[in-house]
Amino acid sequence: MAHYRIALLPGDGIGVEVIGQAVRVLDALGGRFDHSFEYTEDLVGGASIDAHGVALRDETLDMCQAQDAVLFGAVGGPKWDDPKASVRPEQAILGLRKGLGLFANIRPVKMLPILADATPLKRETVEAVDMVVLRELTGGIYFGEPQRRWDEDGQRKAVDTLAYSEEEVERIVRLGFETARGRRKLLTSVDKANILDTSRMWREITEEIAKDYPDVTLEHRLVDACAMDLIRHPSYFDVIVTENMFGDILTDEASMLAGSMGMLPSASLGAAADGSTLGLYEPIHGTAPDIAGQGIANPMAMILSAALMLRYSFGLEQEAATIEQAVIETLSAGHRPADLASEGDASLGTEALGELIADTVAAGN
Ligand code: IPM
Ligand code: MG
Repeated sequence: MAHYRIALLPGDGIGVEVIGQAVRVLDALGGRFDHSFEYTEDLVGGASIDAHGVALRDETLDMCQAQDAVLFGAVGGPKWDDPKASVRPEQAILGLRKGLGLFANIRPVKMLPILADATPLKRETVEAVDMVVLRELTGGIYFGEPQRRWDEDGQRKAVDTLAYSEEEVERIVRLGFETARGRRKLLTSVDKANILDTSRMWREITEEIAKDYPDVTLEHRLVDACAMDLIRHPSYFDVIVTENMFGDILTDEASMLAGSMGMLPSASLGAAADGSTLGLYEPIHGTAPDIAGQGIANPMAMILSAALMLRYSFGLEQEAATIEQAVIETLSAGHRPADLASEGDASLGTEALGELIADTVAAGN
């Protein structure tokens, strides 16, 4: 029996609700495939601010480092939204990304045919969507210094810094080429090279690396044009690689191509000190304060994030595919979470969906 140790960080809002369903599905899977999962849970985000005064404690980071993988829900909420506060829930996820060295955020966006009518776009436009967005996660304007605000001459002033090093660009771009190589072999590198020096350097480095991947077609796109093309012709894209903030924005946009944000998982990977892959898995959605506590959040993105954990951190491809298949079967059987139900149609709550998916996983498919 293989044993895996998982750090469980539910966070706030619907993060707490959906992560419980991922655990339920993992336990059902463990029973069927003879794996055991051991969870070490801790508070992060607003919950940790309330209990300890900080969004992420050093102990929590250490605990995560000692596990085989991290499952993360979501952080934030109106209670901690004061823009003047120096302690904010988002510091938890940023601290984990930086502290664990998770430089590569993998966000697959694949339209499930059964959901082709659930997006605000036309069926013909989204039907064939199947792309992976690789977002750089530990550099750029999220982490550049200086970052501060001050008062000067009776005016408020603020600065953020967008900085990248060659090494930071190279490792994510290489992963982009490797990913494209295993797929349709088209890599779209997204930047703002008509304006930004960081982007011009990004382009230059990407061109140099391209020489090692003659079998992959490389193209560059400006981020504004790419935002438009994602709506105009989304099925064109195969692998997109981009810097931190462009990736943040484009993946929210791309999530609408897959029906709902409630469907999209993500993996954040880095190399641990011993060379092994360290991974944190989280849905791309947030804490959804408007529906938190009602038991109606869609747990699928969180459950699919657990599937990515099985694939990337534990090398359990068959088990990952079993969970993905169970999600598809649950939808195919006509069950819908509230965010995917058509108006007037019945929908199922978080627990009921988790239970159906867990039962399908346990029964074998
Ligand atoms: C995401 C989120 C985070 C980000 C927030 C919560 C810090 O929007 O994972 O995309 O901006 O990276
Ligand atoms: Mg985001």
